[in-house]
Amino acid sequence: MAQARPILFLLAAAALIVASSLLVKQPEPPVRKPAAAKPAAAPGATPVIPMVTAEMKDGKAIFEQVCSACHGMDGGGKAELKSPAIAALPEYYAKHQINGFREGRRGHHPEDTQSSLMGIIAKQLTDAQAEAVVAHITKMPRTVPADIEKDSKNADVANGQMLFQERCMECHRYNATGEIAFGSPPLVGQQAWYIMAQIAKFKNGQRGTVKGDVNGAKMVLSSNFIEDEQMLRDIVAYILSLNPRPEPPAVSNDSPFESASR
Ligand code: HEC
Ligand code: HEC
Repeated sequence: MAQARPILFLLAAAALIVASSLLVKQPEPPVRKPAAAKPAAAPGATPVIPMVTAEMKDGKAIFEQVCSACHGMDGGGKAELKSPAIAALPEYYAKHQINGFREGRRGHHPEDTQSSLMGIIAKQLTDAQAEAVVAHITKMPRTVPADIEKDSKNADVANGQMLFQERCMECHRYNATGEIAFGSPPLVGQQAWYIMAQIAKFKNGQRGTVKGDVNGAKMVLSSNFIEDEQMLRDIVAYILSLNPRPEPPAVSNDSPFESASR
C-alpha cells in the first residue's frame, strides 16, 4: 500500500527523536534567576512566577520584587490574576495563611489553581523572609476595593446588613475588620470578586476541608448559611459599604459667584 511507507517513516523518525533525547541529555534543573533581573509579571492573565532568592532579606524589597507582581504595587490585588488585596492584613492572619499555603491547608485541591500558584511562592520563602514580608504588608495602608459601585449593583444592602449582623459579625466584628481571637481576617479592603470566590471555595471543598484546619472549618459551616447568589451579593454589598468613600471634591474658592458675593 502506498500509504504505509510515509507512516512507517514518521514512526521511525518519532522513535529516533525519543531515543536521541533519552541518550543525549537529561533535562537540566531550572535556573533560578533573581527576580530583579527581569520585570516580574507580564501583562495579561498568565503571570510569570517571580523567584525568591537568598539575597532578598528586606521585607519591602521582597514585596516589591516578588509579591507586587501579582498583588499590585499598592497591595490592592489584581483582578486579572485573581490575586487578592493583602495590604494591611493583620500579622496573625497573614502569617497563618502563608503557613497554610506552605503546609497544604490551602492549595490542596487540584482545581484550586490560584492557591497552588500562591503555594509555589510561599514555599520559596525562608522563615526569616516570610516574617520580614509579613511585617511589611502589615504596615502598608489598606486599599479601597476597585469597583464598589459596580459590585453593589442589584444588591439589597439593608438585607446584606441584616444577614451580616446575624451570621458574620460575631467573628469578623461589627465593622468587618477581623478578630484576632477567632483568627478571622478583615473583609473591609478586600475585593468583592475575591470574597465571592473564597465563599465558593469554602462551599465546594477547595478551602477549609483539610483535617486540622480549625479556622477554615468555621468558615465552611458559615458559608453554608449563604444559600444563593443573591444572598451573597447582598452581604458583599454591605461589606463594601463599610469601606471609606472617596472624599467629595473640596468646594473651590475661586468660583466667580462666590468671589462676587464677597
Ligand atoms: C504568581 C502570583 C502571586 C505572587 C507572586 C504572590 N501571590 Fe499571594 N496570592 C496569589 C493568589 C492568586 C492568591 C489567592 C489564592 C486563592 O484564591 O485562594 C494569593 C493569596 C495570598 C494571601 C492570602 C490572602 C487572604 O486574604 O487570604 C496572602 C497572605 C498572600 N497571597 C501573600 C503573598 C506574599 C507575601 C507574596 C510575596 C512573597 C505573594 N503573595 C506573592 C498570587 C500570588
Ligand atoms: C465562627 C466564626 C466565623 C463566622 C460566623 C464567619 N466567619 Fe468568615 N472567617 C472566619 C475565619 C476564622 C476565617 C479564616 C479562615 C482561614 O484561616 O482560612 C474566615 C475567613 C473568611 C473569608 C476569607 C477571606 C480571605 O481574606 O481569604 C471570607 C470571605 C469570610 N470569612 C466571609 C464570611 C462571611 C460573609 C460570613 C457570614 C456569612 C462569615 N465569614 C462568618 C470565621 C468566621
